[in-house]
Amino acid sequence: VAEWWQALRSQLPLCERTAYFFAGAQGPLPLGVRAAMDDAIAAWDETGWRIRQRMWEDLDRCRDLIAGMVGCSPARVVACDSTSDAMSLAAAMVLQRRRAAGTEGANVVLHDEVHASGSYPWHNAVRLGEPVELRWPVPDDGEDAVEAIVAAVDAATIAVSVAHISHRTGRRLDVAALSDRLRGRDLAVIVDAAQSAGALGLEAEVAAADFVGFPANKWLLGPPGVGFLVIAEPWLADPGPTSVGWGSCPSPPPDARAFELAVGADAFRLGTPNQLGLAGAAAALQLRSGLGEGRVAARIEELTERFLAGVDRQGLPSPTPRAWPGRAGVISLALRDPEAVRARLARRGFDTGVSAGVLRVDIHAYNEESEVDRLLAELRSLRPL
Ligand SMILES: Cc1ncc(COP(=O)(O)O)c(C=O)c1O
Repeated sequence: VAEWWQALRSQLPLCERTAYFFAGAQGPLPLGVRAAMDDAIAAWDETGWRIRQRMWEDLDRCRDLIAGMVGCSPARVVACDSTSDAMSLAAAMVLQRRRAAGTEGANVVLHDEVHASGSYPWHNAVRLGEPVELRWPVPDDGEDAVEAIVAAVDAATIAVSVAHISHRTGRRLDVAALSDRLRGRDLAVIVDAAQSAGALGLEAEVAAADFVGFPANKWLLGPPGVGFLVIAEPWLADPGPTSVGWGSCPSPPPDARAFELAVGADAFRLGTPNQLGLAGAAAALQLRSGLGEGRVAARIEELTERFLAGVDRQGLPSPTPRAWPGRAGVISLALRDPEAVRARLARRGFDTGVSAGVLRVDIHAYNEESEVDRLLAELRSLRPL
């Protein structure tokens, strides 16, 4: 009897052609996701404008599946284009609340390992003349990132922006601990979960944070161009959406002279959605919900442990924490010439990646033990130090 992860692997033709280790950039395409997108294209080809009659159906399915995955109401799940889009929306909402309150002298505390997705909206706010100071606390040697962030927060802090899993080091930030340490503060905790959604369960993070954003196309194995932002209840109406369109009213199409917003995430719909992408994302989330979050994470833990043990035996430098609670599926190797190593590995049938100056080996549940062992053997023969 095939194991559950072998059944998953059999859905991924790319895994037959290459040892695929870069889910954190783009997951391989599952057969079911391709079929769902093919069906959406066929419906368009056969019925033209009639595909608009089910315009919101796949978005609603995605919202239900994500709600089930992270343990929240679907009314809290807003569709976006990407993690960056999700982080921009979160920042716009926080800034809008600050403006409405007339607060002056605000600051935002940024995690030193945050991706540009989580920092650019704030840099741009400064560019646009918002009176916000950006703070970049760097942990002292051995200091926990949570403590460094908390130490930089004061009464004027309106948001902290963090990456759940760092794209540079694979390090995991304890979002629940951060949120606990900030309890009682009037600020927003904004979490970029691009490298964890699909690898780890996010229930605790969604329960602890004000905003959690992630893409469909990485560890969730969906198509590019779709992301989600899970918004804590108090923000849904105050301030509510900062961008709206005809899709934001309770029962579109609306009367252009009247103005009424739907309740919850529906108010964040703009116009015609990315129906092809959402069809694929819904299929990916469906596939995902059949796997069970606990099993996926447990298998990633096992495989990454196996790989890191080999990395340590070879003495390869890696900033990725060894203990499982400190990481997820992203593993970084700090090599002198990561691009040369990536290219040589690619010629030998191993698809790894380079990001932020490190070699990235992203290990997902569909990877095989033997692939991990062969990759280690290949690294040994390359002596890439
Ligand atoms: C931690 C993190 N956040 C955000 C992104 C970018 O995501 P998106 O392209 O969905 O904006 C990446 C991309 O690799 C990432 O590693």
